[in-house]
Amino acid sequence: MTGFETRAIHAGQEPDPLTGAVVPPIYQVSTYAQDGVGGLRGGYEYSRSGNPTRTALETCLAALDAPSSTTAAALAFASGLAAEDTLIRTTCAPGSHIVIPNDAYGGTYRLVARVAGPWGVEHTPASVLDPQAIAAAIIPGRTRLVWIETPTNPLLNVADIAAIAEVAHVAGALLVVDSTFASPYLQQPLELGADVVVHSTTKYLGGHSDVIGGALVVTDPQLAERLRFHQNAMGAVPGPVDCWLVLRGIKTLGVRMDRHCANARAVAAMLVDHPAVSAVLYPGLPEHPGHAAAQRQMRDFGGMVSFRLKAGEQAALEVCRRTEVFTLGESLGGVESLIEHPGRMTHASAAGSPLEVPADLVRLSVGIESIDDLIADLTKALD
Ligand SMILES: Cc1ncc(COP(=O)(O)O)c(C=O)c1O
Repeated sequence: MTGFETRAIHAGQEPDPLTGAVVPPIYQVSTYAQDGVGGLRGGYEYSRSGNPTRTALETCLAALDAPSSTTAAALAFASGLAAEDTLIRTTCAPGSHIVIPNDAYGGTYRLVARVAGPWGVEHTPASVLDPQAIAAAIIPGRTRLVWIETPTNPLLNVADIAAIAEVAHVAGALLVVDSTFASPYLQQPLELGADVVVHSTTKYLGGHSDVIGGALVVTDPQLAERLRFHQNAMGAVPGPVDCWLVLRGIKTLGVRMDRHCANARAVAAMLVDHPAVSAVLYPGLPEHPGHAAAQRQMRDFGGMVSFRLKAGEQAALEVCRRTEVFTLGESLGGVESLIEHPGRMTHASAAGSPLEVPADLVRLSVGIESIDDLIADLTKALD
């Protein structure tokens, strides 16, 4: 299966051998009968350790993010942050150090600073735009993870994955790429030298704002084994219904992403020309600092657009209040368009930190509705 969409629809999802069902059944079960002690019929003993619906999802995710690897493995979690937590517990110990983006997702920052921090793991923020700044932030012998997001949430900065992989590997650290904003359809960091891909499957992979989930994808079998141990030992696993919902979303990921990208391009073009807007943050714009890197490593520029208002925070809040088709809400990546104020909403946990976001910033998750309605809605809210 070489094509992305074919893998999305079929990888890990062969017709059910018992009934021929063309969609993997929801194995809503906690335990499995054994033929004598240790006599497992299908390799499953308890659904925290493994569940067939979860296996289908994990097989599919591995095939999407690392198509050329024969050793790729994916692990599904109850949320993106559960995946991140399990990754940090598996790869770090008290005394370890992590380099994080200086514009990381607020929840990632909170996890690293306020959960891993008290455990004894230190962090240093650095710009994902500058591999040299990341190299300078590394503490030799202590930095276990160089953690980047690309594109970043909410500033849409784009990291040069291959260049940063080199910097991390010279220092003996693993490169972790949170690829949530891109999804495996737009970029495949493991193919560019990354060691771990993080996804909030809540977003584009699920795609319908009806499930919370997360995933890690790796190609090193030993790292996969250690992660699988912690996945079971820490137990932050998704239930079978949630796995099934993400799998169903994945089947249409390619066609949805094409429309997200086309709509975002049109929205960004409108915002660039709008007199109330002081800056548009969207990697598809030639003047965007990450445009060249995005062109090299992404299939398209994604469905997220952020912008700043000349008139400041009150104007940003007012735009968020006024839209009708764009729903005011957190999250992203669903078929419906969302608008939010990162400073007061998704990134409130970074307030007062070096990762604080501008108060005049608005973030859009551009959905797949009719583009004319999206443009008319934003134009009305901005006027
Ligand atoms: C880039 C990014 N990473 C990780 C997460 C965390 O994912 P979840 O909300 O599924 O725990 C989010 C959530 O917004 C995100 O935007």
